[in-house]
Amino acid sequence: MAVPLLDISRQHEPIMDQLREVLDRALESSRFVKGPEMESLEAEFAAYCGSSSAIGCASGTDALILALMALGLKTGELVVTSPFTFFASAGAVVRAGGIPVFVDIREDTFNMDPDLLREWLETRCALTDRGAVEKETGRRVAAVMPVHLFGQPADMDAIGSICAEWAIPVVEDACQAVGAGWGGIKAGSLGEIGCFSFFPSKNLGALGDGGMITTDDAALAERMVRLREHGGQGYLHSEVGFNSRLDALQAGFLRVKLARLDGWHEGRRRNAGFYNEVFADMAGVTTPFIDPEAWSVYNQYTIRAVDRDGLMTHLRSNGIGCAIYYPLPLHLQECFASLGYTEGDLPVSERASLEVLSLPVFGELTRDELEEVAAAVKTFYGLD
Ligand SMILES: Cc1ncc(COP(=O)(O)O)c(C=O)c1O
Repeated sequence: MAVPLLDISRQHEPIMDQLREVLDRALESSRFVKGPEMESLEAEFAAYCGSSSAIGCASGTDALILALMALGLKTGELVVTSPFTFFASAGAVVRAGGIPVFVDIREDTFNMDPDLLREWLETRCALTDRGAVEKETGRRVAAVMPVHLFGQPADMDAIGSICAEWAIPVVEDACQAVGAGWGGIKAGSLGEIGCFSFFPSKNLGALGDGGMITTDDAALAERMVRLREHGGQGYLHSEVGFNSRLDALQAGFLRVKLARLDGWHEGRRRNAGFYNEVFADMAGVTTPFIDPEAWSVYNQYTIRAVDRDGLMTHLRSNGIGCAIYYPLPLHLQECFASLGYTEGDLPVSERASLEVLSLPVFGELTRDELEEVAAAVKTFYGLD
């Protein structure tokens, strides 16, 4: 039996009529960009995340760029992030004019290691009247941007208190973590600004691209609203932004899906629980570690596997979808060579990239499919 890594059509099947109604509404109203549909989504999304404001935009990448711009990032300033993430986390920093600094991840959660963040700040930076500044270069640290990878928030207690000490704002890259939590607080409400992606494969996926930014800071919210529309109010421009509007159609689709999101999360968590049990104590496989403070929404179910490439080939040849997120950490990407990192600099990320494999975990998987995946993994390690 073939098992896909993700089959979005199964999620859409029971809501097809509602999705078509959204399309009809848009055609009837001829409002295709922003408008009441987006405003309703913004209000519903802010309530969902426990934030004062939510601002729709065109993608998760744009959400990150807009957040950094709103915080006043200037050309050549530093943004500290994780090297073990989707490219956009660091790409957005560069597009916003900044320079990424990579701090390695925790071995167990794959998220930014707060101890290493503290160490970097204490060894490389000084707290000045301009804020935290890298001593050697004089560059300001404009933001710390932890990534909530695979649906599990980074350690936001530790990162938050370190950043408070150093007077650095925290931008959550929550693009994979809508609905996730840390210490009972939802992603998007854990830092100064939260950034979300509605790329179709996310837990809350649009039928195209889309993004959202959350914040409790009214001034930041107002600035991001301006920046997403060329920095203007009407035809008066106090600064230069860009075009990052959210389509009304996508907003409508997302409203239908947001109402069902927690149910879909439950399905993912149930499936993760199934694998956790089956793979517990299995030599060859390390199941995902979820911090006791964290509430994971399992955007991915990512194991560490002995002979990962062999396991991937075996699964794929048996029709089982799986993928490596991510095969090359960002500090070793060609486009970041000028940052001066070399192999061995961030060993935890480098090792993770050689060992991780993500398995199908979407909520609509059947029990038979889950068992098929588990059996194939077991067969590979000679355990059936
Ligand atoms: C961690 C992370 N950051 C940023 C992004 C960028 O989001 P988008 O693809 O919507 O631009 C994504 C998703 O693609 C992501 O997974």
